[in-house]
Amino acid sequence: MSKSNLKQAVFPVAGLGSRFLPVTKSIPKEMLPIIDKPLIQFAVEEAIEAGIEEIIFVTSHTKKAIEDYFSMNYELEHRLKDAGKSEVVEIIHPKYLDEIKFSFIRQSEPNGLGHAILQAKHIITDDFFGIILADDLILSEPGCLKQLLEIHEKTQSSVLGVFSASENQVSNYGVISSKNIDGVEKVDGIVEKPKPADAPSNLAVFGRYILSKNIFLNIEQTKPGLNNEIQLTDAIQDLILNEDVFALEFEGRRFDCGSKEGYISAIIDRASSIDKFKSIIEK
Ligand code: UTP
Repeated sequence: MSKSNLKQAVFPVAGLGSRFLPVTKSIPKEMLPIIDKPLIQFAVEEAIEAGIEEIIFVTSHTKKAIEDYFSMNYELEHRLKDAGKSEVVEIIHPKYLDEIKFSFIRQSEPNGLGHAILQAKHIITDDFFGIILADDLILSEPGCLKQLLEIHEKTQSSVLGVFSASENQVSNYGVISSKNIDGVEKVDGIVEKPKPADAPSNLAVFGRYILSKNIFLNIEQTKPGLNNEIQLTDAIQDLILNEDVFALEFEGRRFDCGSKEGYISAIIDRASSIDKFKSIIEK
């Protein structure tokens, strides 16, 4: 694990997951497996690769499975050891379970991403913290948060992960306007879900952020916006007025696993990198 000056990351997992009903009635969207590994584990491993030491889950009452997943299962481990299956114990109990601090806080109602992040205010002690939305699966080397961290270390400022959106995608995302300064995109505005004709660029924000803790003040002042939710995008727009915010177009493959199309693509992508599944994909 590398030492970094970014130690805390917030994982909001309190959304309704309505696009994945009925399964999300009792299973958190973030526990959906990409073959055998849940989305949330990919996200936790990405955070650890970036040097994160404390992960703060913002959960709801239907998300207990996430808490259980990152706790030790004594009975299962004991039974596997007795059956001589120590290699499986390593899979269900990776070393980071003992090294990373996990905290769980509740978002009482799904009032939007901004509101979810605000619930972590009292736990964030450093000037900057990471945010990962686990339903955005990014497969890349180095991991996406680590790519953002490089820009953060250069600029000592907030950094938004962005990707080049197609014309019909822009109306589903926060879209930035920016200027390239010394090879880094400096953000000067952000609009939530613009019509393609009104979009300031095709650079769309997705589920990776490094934000200054001043964002909490902006969220507190943000009125409910689109869908009556407190939007993180609106608070970032206010943050930009007071301090530098940069953006990074990450390198790697991104799967929006909050949508069925993205989720299926992620499974196919992972299966095609595993020898024994390749032939099924190629059929
Ligand atoms: P989404 O916009 O994907 O919403 O949230 P959702 O509820 O998870 O899914 P759908 O749209 O109903 O299918 C983006 C991220 O923000 C979190 C979600 O858990 C997801 O990681 N979120 C959203 C919260 O934690 N709380 C909220 O109130 C809203």
